[in-house]
Amino acid sequence: MSRRSEVLSLCVAVAIAVAAPGPKLSLGATPAAVHEASAPPAARPAPPVPSPAALGIEFVENSTSSLIVERDGKRYLVDPVSHTITDTGNPMETGADHRAAKASGSALMASQPDGAAIFKQKCSACHGADGKGVSAIHTPDFTNPQVQAQITDQQMTDIITHGKAGTMMAGWKGKLTDEEIATVRGFLRSLPGGNPSAQAAESKPKVYTPGDDLLFSLPTGRRVPRHGLIVNFTHRFPYTPAFTGPAKGGSLMGLDDFALPSFGFRYGLTSRLSVSIYRSPTFIARPIQLMAAYNFLDEQDGQHLNAAVRVSIEGQNSFSRNYTENLEGVFSRSLRSRAQLYFVPTLSLNDHRLFAPNSFFSSAIPNLPGYNTLSLGAGVALDIRPTVALVAEVIPTVVNGRPLEIHRPAYSFGIQKKIWRHAFTFGFTTSPGTTVSQRAGTRATFLEDPTADKPGGLFIGFDLSRQLF
Ligand code: HEC
Repeated sequence: MSRRSEVLSLCVAVAIAVAAPGPKLSLGATPAAVHEASAPPAARPAPPVPSPAALGIEFVENSTSSLIVERDGKRYLVDPVSHTITDTGNPMETGADHRAAKASGSALMASQPDGAAIFKQKCSACHGADGKGVSAIHTPDFTNPQVQAQITDQQMTDIITHGKAGTMMAGWKGKLTDEEIATVRGFLRSLPGGNPSAQAAESKPKVYTPGDDLLFSLPTGRRVPRHGLIVNFTHRFPYTPAFTGPAKGGSLMGLDDFALPSFGFRYGLTSRLSVSIYRSPTFIARPIQLMAAYNFLDEQDGQHLNAAVRVSIEGQNSFSRNYTENLEGVFSRSLRSRAQLYFVPTLSLNDHRLFAPNSFFSSAIPNLPGYNTLSLGAGVALDIRPTVALVAEVIPTVVNGRPLEIHRPAYSFGIQKKIWRHAFTFGFTTSPGTTVSQRAGTRATFLEDPTADKPGGLFIGFDLSRQLF
C-alpha cells in the first residue's frame, strides 16, 4: 500500500468512526482514555484519532502485551513480544451480538453477575468463545475433564485474580469484583467437562493432593497429566551436619558446604503412564536412572487407595557400570484432604553400597558387588496451611542392609510449600542419595563413619519441582 492510499484509508476509517460511533465499536475504558489524553491543549482541534474498532483493532482488556486485530471477519490475537499472530477461531462479533453482550455486561455489573457474559466479554478472546482454548497460545481446553480435574477452585480463583506470571494471563483484581470472579469461575466449571458435582465435592474435599513427585526422597506416586512435563531438582548437603559440630554459623548449617545436586525430567505419556530420567552428580557415583511408572488406582477417581508401580534401572558412572534394577510399589491413602500416608516397598536387584568417589575419574567409581535388597519406605504429609505441608519419611532396609553397611534406617523430615504446579521442600535428612536404590543408604556409609547417621548427623536438603507443561 502506498503512503498516500494508507492516509486515504485512514481518512475513510476516521470518517466511518465519526459517522458511526455506535454499536460497532468495541471500546473499553482504556482506548477512550487514550482518546482524551491525546487531545491537544491548543485551540486548533487536532483531527480525531480513529477508533480502534474502525481500524479493526480491539484491545484485550487487562493485557499490556497483546491485542486483537480483525481482518475479513476473523479475529487474530497479536503478541508483539513474541511476534506471534494467532487465529482465535472467534468470528468477529456482529454489532447486535456486541450490543447484547454489552447490555448484559452492564446489567450484570449493576445487579447479578452473569458468568457467561463476563467470559464472553473479557476472556473469550484468549480462551475461545466456547472455552476450548486457543492452541497457539496454550490456553487450556476448559471442556476437557482432565484440565478441570487438575485445577482446584482455589487455584482458578487465584489465577483469575492475580494472573499467571510469565504468561499472557493477567490478573483481574480491581477490574472484576470478587463476586464476578467467583461467577466466571462458576461458568468455567459449568462447561461440559467441568463437573459441577466434583466442584461441589471440592468445597468439602476428601482427598489429599500431593504437591510434588517426592515426599522428601520417597515418591508420592502422584500422576502426571498426559503430555505433562515436570522437572525435579534435589539438593543434599551431606558433608556438614546441620545441628552439631563446630562453626555452625560459619557454614550456615552446612549450606555453605558442597552439595549433591541431582535433577531429572518426568513426562506423562498418558494420564497413567509416565517415564522419567534422573541424574545425580559425580560425588555420589554419578548414577543415571531411567524409569517407567504406571498409576493403576487413584483416589481422585473415587478409589480407596492410590497405587502405582514403578520400574527403573540405574547405572553408575553415567550409566556405564554398577547397574541396579528397581521395582517399587507406591501406595498412599488420604486422611481427608489434610494428610496422606505413604507406603513404598522397594525391591532393588544388584544394589550397591553408597560411597563417595574422591575424584572425577571413572576409576574412582569401581565395580562393586551387588546385593538384592528390600526396603520398606513409609511417610506422611500433613497440610498445616492450604499450601504448606509437613512431610516425614523413614526407609528401613529389611533385607540385606548389612552387606550395604546400612546401620540405621534413612529418615527425613521437612516443610513443603505447594504453589500451582510448583513445590519447594526444605528439610533435614540422613540420606545423601535420591535415586531409588541410593535413597535407602545413609551418610554413615557415604562418609565411612558408622555414627554419621545418628540424629546429630542430620543435614540439610531441599527439593524443587516445577510442572513445565
Ligand atoms: C490475553 C489473553 C488472556 C485473557 C484475556 C484471559 N486469559 Fe486466562 N489464560 C491465558 C493464558 C495464555 C493462560 C495459560 C497460561 C499457561 O498455563 O501457560 C491462561 C490461563 C487461565 C487459567 C488457568 C487454567 C489452567 O488450567 O491452567 C484460568 C482459570 C483462566 N486463564 C481464566 C481466565 C478468565 C476467567 C479470564 C477472563 C476474566 C481470562 N482467563 C482472560 C490468557 C488469557
